[in-house]
Amino acid sequence: MLTIGLFGFGCVGQGLWDVIHRTHGLRSRIARIFVKDKHKARPLPQSAFTFERHDILNDGSINVVVELIDDAEAAFEIVSAAMRNGKAVVTANKKMVATRFRELLELQRESQQPLLYEASTGGSIPIIRNLEEYYDNDLLSGVEGIVNGTTNYILSKLSVNNEANYYDVLHDAQRLGFAESDPTLDVDAWDAAYKTVVISAHAFGAVIHPDDVVRRGIATITPFDVAVARSHGCDIKLLSRTSLHNNKLIAWALPTFVPHTDMLAHIENETNAIRLHGAFSDDQLLIGKGAGAHPTASAVLSDIAALKYGYRYEYKKLFQNDIPQFNTDISTRVYIRGDESHLKSIDFIDVEIDHKANNNRYLIGRTSMRALAESEPFISSECFIAIV
Ligand SMILES: NC(=O)c1ccc[n+]([C@@H]2O[C@H](COP(=O)([O-])OP(=O)(O)OC[C@H]3O[C@@H](n4cnc5c(N)ncnc54)[C@H](OP(=O)(O)O)[C@@H]3O)[C@@H](O)[C@H]2O)c1
Repeated sequence: MLTIGLFGFGCVGQGLWDVIHRTHGLRSRIARIFVKDKHKARPLPQSAFTFERHDILNDGSINVVVELIDDAEAAFEIVSAAMRNGKAVVTANKKMVATRFRELLELQRESQQPLLYEASTGGSIPIIRNLEEYYDNDLLSGVEGIVNGTTNYILSKLSVNNEANYYDVLHDAQRLGFAESDPTLDVDAWDAAYKTVVISAHAFGAVIHPDDVVRRGIATITPFDVAVARSHGCDIKLLSRTSLHNNKLIAWALPTFVPHTDMLAHIENETNAIRLHGAFSDDQLLIGKGAGAHPTASAVLSDIAALKYGYRYEYKKLFQNDIPQFNTDISTRVYIRGDESHLKSIDFIDVEIDHKANNNRYLIGRTSMRALAESEPFISSECFIAIV
C-alpha cells in the first residue's frame, strides 16, 4: 500500500487527486495535503489539509511524498527532508531538478530512496523513463523538440495571423490559462532550458547547469520575423536541443526556423513533441500534452505506480567512462534582426543574406554557438534572434 503525503493542491495537485480517484488497481491513498494559503477556498474538507510540513514529513505511516508546489527552493527543502526521513519522492518541479541535479543525485545515494520526476519534462510524454530504459543501448546522437506549451501556443497563433502582435497573443494566452501571469520563465526560455538539462542528463549522462544552456526567448518576436521565416518556407518554434558532436555536448533552447517539411513545424498550440535521433533506430517523435492538470498528473501517477515495483532511475549513462563534455564550439546558422549595434553583437563567420526593408534589417549567416552564447541578450523588440 502506498500512503501518499501530497505537497501542493494547485493545478497539478488537484489533477492528481482526480486521476488517483479514477484509477482502479493502484493501491494507494492520499493521506494528507500540505498547502500554503490558510484562507483559500478548497474543494475538499479542511481536515484533508495541513499547513505544517512536518505533519507529513514526520508521519511514519506516509511512505511516499508527492511534491507539486511551485516554489523550487521550498520544494528542495521538502524533498530533501522527505528522502532523509525514508520516503520515496515523486516531483514535477523541473526548476528544482535542473538547478539541484547533483545534490539530488547525492541525496538518492545517501538516503537510498527513489526520486522520480517524469512530469517535470514534456508533461504527459514519457521521455525520461524512455531515455533511462529503452535508449540505454542505442546510440543516441540528439534529442530535440518543443517542450514548452506556452511559447508554442503563442508562436502558433502568431504564425496563423500575420497581423497579430506578441503582446496581444500573450494576453489571450493568459486569459485562457495557457500562460502564467508572470510568463518570464516560459517566454525567456528558462523553462525549456530546465527541461534541456534534465534531458541531457538522461540521454547522455551529462549534468549541465541551466545557465550553460544557450538560450534566447521569444518576447521580442514581431510579425516581420514570422514573415521572414515564412518566406524561407519555415515557421518559428522555440526548440530545445541537446546533441553530441564528436563526443562533445551542445545544449540550447532557442527560437528556430523549422521548415514546413519537418513535422515539428506542425505541432500546434500547447502540444509538445520530442524527437530522438538514434544511430540504429533512426528518428522517433513523441507527441503529447506538455502541460495541464490531467496530462501532467498522468505522468505523476505513472511514477507513483512505478514505485510499486521498486523502480528507481539507475543513471547508468552518468557512470559510463566517456561522459561528453559541454562545448559551444560548433557552427550554426542564425537569423538576427535589429539595428547596426544589434547586428554587430554577433561575430559572423560568413553572411549569406543582408536584407534591409523599410525600418527592418536582418542578417542570416553562419556563426558559432559560442558567439551566440556570449552575445548580449537584447530584450527590446528591436532585436530578435533565431537559429536557421
Ligand atoms: N501546471 C502544469 O501544467 C505543469 C506541468 C508540468 C510541471 N508542472 C510543475 O508542477 C508543479 C506545480 O505546478 P502547478 O501548476 O500545480 O502550480 P499551482 O497551480 O500554482 O499550485 C501550486 C500549489 O503549491 C502550493 N505552494 C506554493 N508554494 C508553496 C510553499 N512554499 N509551501 C507550500 N505550498 C506551496 C500552493 O498552495 P496554495 O494552494 O495554498 O496557494 C498550491 O497549492 C510546479 O513545479 C510546476 O513547474 C506544472
